[in-house]
Amino acid sequence: MAIQRTFSIIKPDATERNLTGAVNAVIEAAGLRIVAQKRILMSRREAETFYGVHRERPFFGELVDFMTSGPVVVQVLEGENAVLRYREVMGATNPANAEEGTIRKKFARSIGENSVHGSDSEENAAIEIAQFFSGNEIVG
Ligand code: CMP
Repeated sequence: MAIQRTFSIIKPDATERNLTGAVNAVIEAAGLRIVAQKRILMSRREAETFYGVHRERPFFGELVDFMTSGPVVVQVLEGENAVLRYREVMGATNPANAEEGTIRKKFARSIGENSVHGSDSEENAAIEIAQFFSGNEIVG
């Protein structure tokens, strides 16, 4: 399997509890490399663009409110089969369904405040990475 990149966000519920390092430790222990990372306050426009696919969902407003409520850490992760690997490491969207040892099982509070985001395909990873990083900010 080729080396791949995926996009990750450490969400406001995790940064608020000072869990950035704890989340990163799980990511690195799983064999993924953090090849770009920055802590930002997402604007409403950025959040609405990022989650545009969910615009018609009933939780869209809540999701945008939450993602702009505090600092997030946006990241590019690199490794073998990184998109799928990171989804395994995150665990299920709803922490009630997440496997032991996953980030969401360890840290998430609820389906909304679920500590991390990860791309769902290589194609979306490229789009999401390009929304937040320029090429020279990613150092593999
Ligand atoms: P994420 O992987 O960032 O992608 C979309 C997000 O929508 C998802 O994680 C959840 O945090 C959020 N989400 C999904 N379903 C719900 C829901 N029923 N209520 C609130 N937020 C949700």
